[in-house]
Amino acid sequence: KKKDTVPWFPRTIQDLDRFANQILSYGSELDADHPGFTDAVYRARRKEFADIAYNYRHGNVIPRVEYTEDEIRTWSIVYRELKTLYPTHACREHNRVFPLLEQYCGYREDNIPQLEDVSKFLQSCTGFRLRPVAGLLSSRDFLAGLAFRVFHSTQYIRHGLRPMYTPEPDVCHELLGHVPLFADPKFAQFSQEIGLASLGAPDEYVEKLATVYWFTVEFGLCKQNSEIKAYGAGLLSSFGELQYCLTNEPELRPFDPVKTVDQKYPITKFQPIYFVAESFEDAKEKVR
Ligand code: TRP
Ligand code: FE
Repeated sequence: KKKDTVPWFPRTIQDLDRFANQILSYGSELDADHPGFTDAVYRARRKEFADIAYNYRHGNVIPRVEYTEDEIRTWSIVYRELKTLYPTHACREHNRVFPLLEQYCGYREDNIPQLEDVSKFLQSCTGFRLRPVAGLLSSRDFLAGLAFRVFHSTQYIRHGLRPMYTPEPDVCHELLGHVPLFADPKFAQFSQEIGLASLGAPDEYVEKLATVYWFTVEFGLCKQNSEIKAYGAGLLSSFGELQYCLTNEPELRPFDPVKTVDQKYPITKFQPIYFVAESFEDAKEKVR
């Protein structure tokens, strides 16, 4: 009987408010030695951010945060290192949007942009908007947001001792990795369609869609003018992995959803395998 029931899914953008208090705690597979998990001052700061997200409702202005000097120092390192890599390592869509973010959204080495400003900018480009999230959502909830062009975004920053790679998403990952691509119409469409396919789908399908999301939106590579570039946000926010992904160390395979959906992947270290898309358009058609 249970098998025949369609899982609950949001019908309106307001329904996304129901996800706010369904946060998963990190599993044991997450690196417990990471400074971000053991530093008490850092944990306390994280709770302040979690409360903002917990109390957020659709339509609210996203509260502005005053970042500390330490936090801004961490941002500066990440920003500076990544900016030197983008011209050679990032896809053209990312490089096209980035200057606009510097012009309109306060992207600077000495400033962490505010989610509210970035969300407004994205809405004017593609209708995508940001919504603060307190922690890790289930794949089902996270993908459902994309169906409404809502991107759940962290607001805290990674721990200052490990700027080049962190095992969890943070504001550097969201703002430097995801945001530039959500401003691109073709990429926005691709992302939304993964979300739409997930609504009310059985658990096994949601799992497969989450894997497609992982190897595209998070860790995708693509061909551009006979070169290979990064478009996945997990690459574009980690100056360690962005460099590594275009060396001959990892294995590259053509993006083919039929095969990609069954590929296993690690979540706390550089990816051993990447999938290369022909284009966002082609990836979208294949996923469809
Ligand atoms: N490693 C990424 C960075 O340093 C952040 C990150 C952690 C991440 N877990 C992720 C990105 C999962 C995408 C998916 O910026
Ligand atoms: Fe991400």
